[in-house]
Amino acid sequence: ISLQPYNTFGIDVNAKQFVSIESIEALRNLLEQEKDFFILGGGSNVLLTNNIDKLVVHIAFKGIEIVEQSDNDVIVKVAAGENWHQFVLWCIAHNFGGVENMSLIPGNVGTAPIQNIGAYGVELKDTCLTVEAVAIETGKTRTFTNAECAFGYRNSVFKNQLKGRYIITNVFFKLTKNKHQLNSSYGAIQAELKKNGIENPTIKNISDAVIAIRKSKLPDPADLGNSGSFFKNPVILASEFKKLQEKFPDVPHYKVSDTEIKVPAGWLVEQSGFKGKRIGNTGSHKNQALVLVNYGNATGKEVLALSKLIQKTVFDKFNIAIEAEVNII
Ligand code: EPU
Repeated sequence: ISLQPYNTFGIDVNAKQFVSIESIEALRNLLEQEKDFFILGGGSNVLLTNNIDKLVVHIAFKGIEIVEQSDNDVIVKVAAGENWHQFVLWCIAHNFGGVENMSLIPGNVGTAPIQNIGAYGVELKDTCLTVEAVAIETGKTRTFTNAECAFGYRNSVFKNQLKGRYIITNVFFKLTKNKHQLNSSYGAIQAELKKNGIENPTIKNISDAVIAIRKSKLPDPADLGNSGSFFKNPVILASEFKKLQEKFPDVPHYKVSDTEIKVPAGWLVEQSGFKGKRIGNTGSHKNQALVLVNYGNATGKEVLALSKLIQKTVFDKFNIAIEAEVNII
């Protein structure tokens, strides 16, 4: 079976076998028979470079449920197979605040904690209360507190110590019902609100602004295969940054701590000459250099080769190693 419809890069590789799992019971039954498989969620953060010579398990649990609420907050349980953006729209429709800045991020709710998705100053970790997961080894359910998830920048325990050991089944969010903590600090959001004459934004206004910004910069996987940012923004020592800034006075940057500075990988890739450049069936997107795209028939190996060429060129020019954010399989 071709996995092309199941990955947003639109890479055409085959799976030896494929099963869509729609309930925790079905998952437990599967685990009793088979433990050597490949798990696929929304397929929005993977680059498939080879056929998968294993059973591919597609997580398709559905359901969004309010489990508890007070005057100010609500706790919502969301099944792993729910589409992330559909969940955000559900929150906006119910006037539940906290995830509006993360509108239009591709992928599913169950894979969102693995890399702690984020955009425009807000990350999943800010509203994620707990993560429920089934251990592959034992079939037992475990609930991880926010702290136990060890969230970091595009990072969590599920990418590190517990990699490949759990399947996330449900994510619980704590959202605001009124007194929303709006985050419109990003210049791009402010500009979009201003353009529309909005002075006191609602969560819907913020969501609409983010949707407009993303649509103007990021290619829609339905038109042009991609996995969002291909690389993470590197964090370098302040002493290294000083040297970089002497050579490149315009380098954009964000302070992480007194000793560390984050440099946008998109800028490094653009300065290395790749923005909008097409190589065969792949390339770096014309509006956002950090996004690698599939012009139609790219193979995973072709995209991987481009990513390596970009990494090498950036390293030779800036002496900075940029790391893939996408999981390369
Ligand atoms: N820039 C360039 N050229 C480019 C792209 C960016 O010079 O082609 C520079 C600009 O100076 C800009 C700066 O980089 O000011 C930052 O760019 P942008 O605001 O577009 O954000 P980003 O750092 O490239 C990050 C996340 C995105 C997230 C946006 C908005 C990472 C790896 N990426 O991108 O997340 O949507 O911020 O918050 O952290 C993703 O993870 O897949 C993703 C899309």
